[in-house]
Amino acid sequence: MQRTIVKDIYWVGSVDWSMRDFHSFTTLRGVTYNSYLIFDEKIALIDTVKATFAKELLFNISAFASPEKIDYIIVNHAEPDHASSLPIIVTACKKAKVVCTKKCQEILSLYHDVSKWVFQIVKEGDTLSLGKKTLSFIETPMVHWPESMFTYLKEEKILFSMDAFGQHFSSSSRFDDEVDGCAVMDEAKKYYANILMPFGQQILKAIDKIKKYEIRIVAPSHGIVWRSSLSEIVSLYQEWASFKPQKKVLVIYDTMWESTKEMAVAIHRGASIEGVQAKLIFIRATNITDIVTDVLDAQGIILGCSNLNQGLMPFMGMLLTYLKGLRPQKKLVASFGSFGWGRGAVEEIEEFFKSASLEVFAPPIKSQWKSTQKILEECERLGLALAEKVKR
Ligand code: FEO
Repeated sequence: MQRTIVKDIYWVGSVDWSMRDFHSFTTLRGVTYNSYLIFDEKIALIDTVKATFAKELLFNISAFASPEKIDYIIVNHAEPDHASSLPIIVTACKKAKVVCTKKCQEILSLYHDVSKWVFQIVKEGDTLSLGKKTLSFIETPMVHWPESMFTYLKEEKILFSMDAFGQHFSSSSRFDDEVDGCAVMDEAKKYYANILMPFGQQILKAIDKIKKYEIRIVAPSHGIVWRSSLSEIVSLYQEWASFKPQKKVLVIYDTMWESTKEMAVAIHRGASIEGVQAKLIFIRATNITDIVTDVLDAQGIILGCSNLNQGLMPFMGMLLTYLKGLRPQKKLVASFGSFGWGRGAVEEIEEFFKSASLEVFAPPIKSQWKSTQKILEECERLGLALAEKVKR
């Protein structure tokens, strides 16, 4: 396992190679919890790991120093994937102060018995000298939780960015230039879409704040450390955070007796024009984590669902619930679906569009029992019209 980030700074985190579900986020490449140990006249530990890996973290630290010698534990984020090991780690690091924001202290005290912990509360712009090295703290609320912050190490120009720029990616390598670059970018996009999509404005503010710092390494708390593709990942974050649209149309559907599927195929046929990426997504054959990743940069999204009893089929209901929280923006949307003796599915999709303030491109297309040729032609025209709009 590679551990050296630069001289006197080491990765001491944990890799969960077999983790495949991170609170409903499908993690086919596993998960990594990054923790970094900085040596100077004082020793600082940046972030910790999930509780199940507490012993491993202590073992990894012990390869470099006794945990009792650690002076500071910097907590950039209180979420349990990074902070649930703290009760064990703070006990082992007998003299360490817990360095975090006031908000972080509040959240930690609701999760853990912190009565014996010694806190050092920091705020935006505060610094902490370790001797020759200095840490600066940058508050980044809602990237990903209210207490979130970045920590910057001036002398080595390293930004410890917590969840931001992270990916769920297992590797014994540490750097972006040592692994499959396409796979890492794929996971970075997936991570952004599924975790950070609702926080675009806060992410843009955080990026604005770090512009004044010279940065040569970004060390997130998940996955690979960026040192070669730094400007690329920051630039992608700016695009994702501002929902920069791609010339891409998604036709996402669920179907009961193939009638809605026929409509979806017709819409997709219409949307499949040169210069536009048109994707046909059967919701029950595609992982929701991947669907949401496609939603991030698609400008056109057409959702279709057969009616089941008085409403949506379950997988479409799940997708709408997930998207409601993720709050995608700058999309052109439309809906379609078949129904028989009951109604409600397409109406629920339309209701979702309204509540999510998405721009409806065209009225819904509904078909009773089996679609007629006329309806299928209408579907094809809808796909074509949206693709042409997206292409422009
Ligand atoms: Fe990786 Fe928001 O925790």
